[in-house]
Amino acid sequence: METALLNGTKKEDIAKAAVLLKAGGLVAIPTETVYGLAANALDGSAVKRIFEAKGRPQDNPLIVHIASLDTLPKLVASVPDEALALADQFWPGPLTIILPKASCIPDEVSAGLETVAVRFPSHPVARAIIEASGLPLAAPSANTSGRPSPTKAEHVLHDLRGKIEAVVDGGDCGVGLESTVVSLAGNRPRLLRPGGVTHEQLEEVLGAVEIDPAVTHAVQKNAVVSSPGMKYKHYSPKARVVILKGGGEDYIRYVNAHKREGAAALCFDEDVAAVQVPAVSLGPEKDGEEQARRLFDALRTIDQLGAVLAYARCPEQTGVGLAVYNRLIRAAAFEVIEL
Ligand code: TXA
Ligand code: MG
Repeated sequence: METALLNGTKKEDIAKAAVLLKAGGLVAIPTETVYGLAANALDGSAVKRIFEAKGRPQDNPLIVHIASLDTLPKLVASVPDEALALADQFWPGPLTIILPKASCIPDEVSAGLETVAVRFPSHPVARAIIEASGLPLAAPSANTSGRPSPTKAEHVLHDLRGKIEAVVDGGDCGVGLESTVVSLAGNRPRLLRPGGVTHEQLEEVLGAVEIDPAVTHAVQKNAVVSSPGMKYKHYSPKARVVILKGGGEDYIRYVNAHKREGAAALCFDEDVAAVQVPAVSLGPEKDGEEQARRLFDALRTIDQLGAVLAYARCPEQTGVGLAVYNRLIRAAAFEVIEL
């Protein structure tokens, strides 16, 4: 199949994307977090094709994207006050809310669960495409399963060219990491995946929000987890990634003492000049938002350098840093060295 490259700034290309989606096609669309691989969320056979194109495990449910709060009650069994409070504060934006699902949600979307994940993205191109199609759109990140999520149209083409109908180019994604996922389907609110909306911000609206253990720790392969996506090794470049936990000086000393052919540094601006291996920077040490924006592209750059081993500096685990850490530790298959 020929994958069309559409331009998110052109009205006629938005219309083309909508036509493809209405016909059951797969279209990668830009959002403020990462590019999503969209299909009609109400069409089980269209959604099934998403899993095939990505090579995604069948038990990993998808997020449904909407462009108006009025759509939410149609997708879920009921809308609790907490959901409205979150929507009021963070929608449109990088927050996904899990609620008990309505019967119109196909099993392919919910992967057999009784819940559905819903997000109202803020990206103008994503919103325009959802509105033009008149459909709720199921969309996981538009990468091959296991690879770093795409933050540029070229990342999508690299992974999925020939497997999907179109990619809509909307430039680089501003947040750079996937949305925060919070479940309101249990007794108490629970953070399943950290993202651009921080745990601290959620607690300002909801009061106490539990952090699912899978956010920071490895889970057993066959364990039952609240968010199936968190159990897989993820976001991985071909190189082995090792996280080095400690201050800048300790990091530089370790990297230089262990330099070898094929090693690279995934570090902060402050470290670049001092490390004696090729370096890819995530930005300033104290700028979690910039690190989030650059992480996935940096992981792909590590591969382009031909590195087989990447020494990654450990980000701080507060604010957006928790999300950066959550992705990096999966890219590293939980390999961490305390310095
Ligand atoms: O920012 C994002 O969320 C991007 C853009 C495209 O919107 N999408 C995205 O989708 O990251 P995906 O499929 O890569 O990640 C969805 C995550 C997975 O970890 C999945 O297991 C979880 O959300 N999830 C989806 N539905 C769920 C449900 N009903 N219960 C628990 N977890 C759910
Ligand atoms: Mg993903």
